[in-house]
Formats: sequence, structure tokens, C-alpha cells
Amino acid sequence: MQLPSDVKRVLLSVEAIDVRVQELADQINTDYAGKDLILVGVLKGSFIFLADLARKITVPHRVDFIALSSYNNGSVSSGEVRMIMDVRSPLMGHHVLLVEDIVDTGHTLDYLFRVFAMRYPTSLKTCVLLNKPSRRVVDISATLDYVGFTIPNVFVVGYGLDFADTWRTLPYIAELKESCYS
Ligand code: PRP
Repeated sequence: MQLPSDVKRVLLSVEAIDVRVQELADQINTDYAGKDLILVGVLKGSFIFLADLARKITVPHRVDFIALSSYNNGSVSSGEVRMIMDVRSPLMGHHVLLVEDIVDTGHTLDYLFRVFAMRYPTSLKTCVLLNKPSRRVVDISATLDYVGFTIPNVFVVGYGLDFADTWRTLPYIAELKESCYS
């Protein structure tokens, strides 16, 4: 397979991602049977993961989005999370599952938990495709419910994840060459 010149290696293949997303969906289908579920995708990074996950979730559910930003187009989290767009649905009385592409420092999930908990959902859980614990600044371990893969401290792009808003639509998850961002 010909890789883009900025890509060092494929970390997670299309096939590996597909298998794991199905496993996550299977678990969610079991856990949310008979419950009123709202999936909330965190834009932009989660858009491909959410699209694939939602189509594998067979229990009735709605899909909503929230847009946040904390990286200001760079590779270092500012730690200051900004809400760009809120969900449309009231969350009170619903089972809410936050869908994220990656948890890195933990600032974003920590912020979302504090904001969403104040809206009195019946339950609030998270489904994160990638967990990078080596970069954690805020301890959000208690809020990680469904995790796709735990990855090392490398800069990953593809399957929704970007560097300076590029590479999001690579079908696999790749490690970017250090020369691109250092
Ligand atoms: C990325 C990613 C997560 C967040 C995780 O979003 O999509 O939302 O960073 O990082 P943290 O755990 O250090 O908070 P980003 O701000 O880059 O925006 P994007 O999703 O639009 O790419």
C-alpha cells in the first residue's frame, strides 16, 4: 500500500478498526437494550467513528453533535476548551453516550462531563476510539466506559483525526512523521 509521504506507518488498519468498532457496538447494543439513547459526537474528530459506530448500533437511538476545540490548529492542547456549537437535543431524562475519537490530556472529556452533568441526563457515558494515557493531565479514568484502543504517545491522524485540519479522511489510523509537527 502506498502511504502519503508524511505518514510514518499505519498504526491501526481499516480491518482492525472495523472489527473493534463492531465489538464496541455489540457491547452498546447489549447495555442499552430498551433504553432511550442519544449518541453525541464531538466534532470534528469523531465524525467518521460516529458514522460507523451508529450504523452498527441496532438499538433505537438518536444522533446529535457538539463542536469543541482546544488545540488551536497545533499539536499541543491549550487546556482551554471552547464550545463552538451545542447539541440540539435536551438531554434531561435521556441516556447520553458521548462519542470521541481520542482522549489525550483529558481536558475535553473533563469539560464535557461537567457541562453535560448539569443537564440531568438519566445516564452519561463515553465511547472513545483511542485512549492515549501517557499524555493525561486530568484524571478522567472514571469516565472512560467504552474504549476502542489504547495507543502509545505518537501523533495519530486519519479516521477523523487531523493535524492542522488535514488527514481526517485517511481510512486507517496512521502515525505522522515527527518532521511534520515538531
Ligand atoms: C481533539 C479530539 C478530542 C480532543 C482530545 O479535538 O477530537 O476532542 O482533541 O484531546 P484532550 O484529551 O487533550 O482534550 P481538537 O480540539 O483537536 O478538535 P477537532 O476534533 O476538531 O480536531
